[in-house]
Amino acid sequence: MTDYNLKENHKHFLDLIALNQHQVREIIEKAKALKQTTKQIGQTKGFVHADAPLANQSLAMIFEKPSTRTRVSFEMAMHQLGGKCVVLQNHDMQLDHGESVSDTARVLSGFVDAIMLRANSHEALLEMAEYSKVPIINALTDFSHPCQIMADILTFEEHRGPIEGKKIAWCGDGNNVATSWIHAAVLLGCELSLACPVQYSPLEQLLGWAKNNGGKITLSDNPEQAVKDADCVITDTWVSMGDKDRENRLEILKPYQVNEPLMSKAKSSALFMHCLPAHRGEEVSADVIDGPQSVIWDEAENRLHIQKAILLWCFGK
Ligand code: CP
Ligand code: NVA
Repeated sequence: MTDYNLKENHKHFLDLIALNQHQVREIIEKAKALKQTTKQIGQTKGFVHADAPLANQSLAMIFEKPSTRTRVSFEMAMHQLGGKCVVLQNHDMQLDHGESVSDTARVLSGFVDAIMLRANSHEALLEMAEYSKVPIINALTDFSHPCQIMADILTFEEHRGPIEGKKIAWCGDGNNVATSWIHAAVLLGCELSLACPVQYSPLEQLLGWAKNNGGKITLSDNPEQAVKDADCVITDTWVSMGDKDRENRLEILKPYQVNEPLMSKAKSSALFMHCLPAHRGEEVSADVIDGPQSVIWDEAENRLHIQKAILLWCFGK
């Protein structure tokens, strides 16, 4: 008989708020330690940790949308932990030819020990988690991008210490990455000041949930007000994968560009972050993203270190 329950110590990583503060902190601290070990060893990137904690474990990575960072960081993370990866593009799978998510979940559960999914719809992710008997990891959906925000928190804390009580400003589209920042603000107690046009603001229901759960979150359509005294200014593309109304978005989001005059309203020590891929001259000016306050390359590299910690957590290690 097939057992359709997750092993007792195995866990899904679906969203930050599916975890508690202690669990999120545990993953971040683990990533800091793993990064330090990696740097100390001074290995080439293709090394395997001496204890190979995920030896004999495997991960299927399903992509319904393109990816550079998520794909390579997960693949290298599994390799460095001693495990194996199978990369699956949606268009090569029966999933794209009518096979259900639930059947795919049940079949893959018999082949691999965990599944990472970059999905068009968050519902598909939840359905995968419902029917899978192995851990499911959210590698971005139309709703959220929790792995990215874990790397962002790690990056912020490396540069500026504990994020609790710090002011984070988000300017632009209230998209999936913004959603995960809202989750992080509630869970970790940082202040989050969002500047988004009404048309592209985060869902009212989400903001209501954040408020009811003690989140220090404000929303306005005024970028200067949002970045005032901020410790970190963040933005993301104005046109996410799957968005149809490109021209409209570029027009409406124009006043939200993060540029030097806007950065000068934040603290002089403020960091600039962007999950990438970036569009210089659209959501951010080249002088900011390539300037001294930008920590985007650390942020990108930290995807690798945090993926390792997320994987170990999912496997109960
Ligand atoms: N930031 C991020 O998730 O990048 P990719 O789309 O390249 O994975
Ligand atoms: N908001 C972007 C993030 C890409 C990593 C998107 O969903 O396309």
